[in-house]
Amino acid sequence: MSKLIKTVQEIKSVLVDSPRPLGFVPTMGALHDGHVSLIKAAKSECKTTVVSIFVNPLQFGPNEDFDRYPRNLEMDMDVCNGNKVEYIFAPEYSEIYPDKGKDRIFPPTELVSDLCGKTRKNFFSGIATVVKKLFDLLEPDYAYFGEKDLQQLYVIKWLVKKYNIPVVIKPLPIAREQNGLACSSRNNYLSDKEKEIASNIYKSLVLGKENMRSGFFNVSKAILESLVYLSQFPEIKTEYFEARGKINLGKINDEKNIDFYFLIAAHVGNVRLIDNIEV
Ligand code: PAJ
Repeated sequence: MSKLIKTVQEIKSVLVDSPRPLGFVPTMGALHDGHVSLIKAAKSECKTTVVSIFVNPLQFGPNEDFDRYPRNLEMDMDVCNGNKVEYIFAPEYSEIYPDKGKDRIFPPTELVSDLCGKTRKNFFSGIATVVKKLFDLLEPDYAYFGEKDLQQLYVIKWLVKKYNIPVVIKPLPIAREQNGLACSSRNNYLSDKEKEIASNIYKSLVLGKENMRSGFFNVSKAILESLVYLSQFPEIKTEYFEARGKINLGKINDEKNIDFYFLIAAHVGNVRLIDNIEV
């Protein structure tokens, strides 16, 4: 049975005597196959695994979905139990933010003002702040993150370097539903029909990649082609479809010979979805 722990004091005291390496999977709950892939990786590499479940208010904007974000601790506990997770850390707000969230970390502008940072002000600051706190509290050896939230992953790598945090970051590939739609807690908001439509977000990424592979397209032409594909689905409102280099997610020219990603954010109804593909 996974042990549910709600206080900083208790998690710290159980971890003192827990066998290492300690693996950590930070989440906001509503666990799905993407989270499970991180949990399985942690379980296979570590002697003790902690999954945190904390819907972090600092990373939600005033008009975002903090209040309606799916919360289901019972189901999350079943998932953790089923995967033999040792500890679930599900703290209250005051445990994590005794300072009421006043002390914040601000990652460099060039990393957080682009892509998702354009429309989600302070989003990555909220993420960096909570993840730094969790790392400081738990002192994990390995921490597992999904490539679905690619910009987040780059922010976490920056964080670890900036503060010399002795943790190894382990990125895991994107888990998808059968139709290709990237697993996300926010898929809970979608109807079956919307999920089917939303699977075209991934198809537009695959198309972009295939077009690049064909050799007949440069980056901007491939992006245009994918946007044309998406325009067939009026239910999908594309926020951005961009190419960014692998080294630091910076802008790239129309070159074909560098490693890059296509990244997309799109809205289906009032649900915001993100996805990406390595090219
Ligand atoms: P959350 O959205 O719950 O995601 C927790 C972890 O699961 C993140 O590392 C995320 O990238 C990963 N993940 C989500 N969907 C995935 C998928 N389809 N395939 C693989 N991994 C996936 O990301 C957060 O929470 C928060 O920002 C957090 C890091 C916990 C800080 O509050």
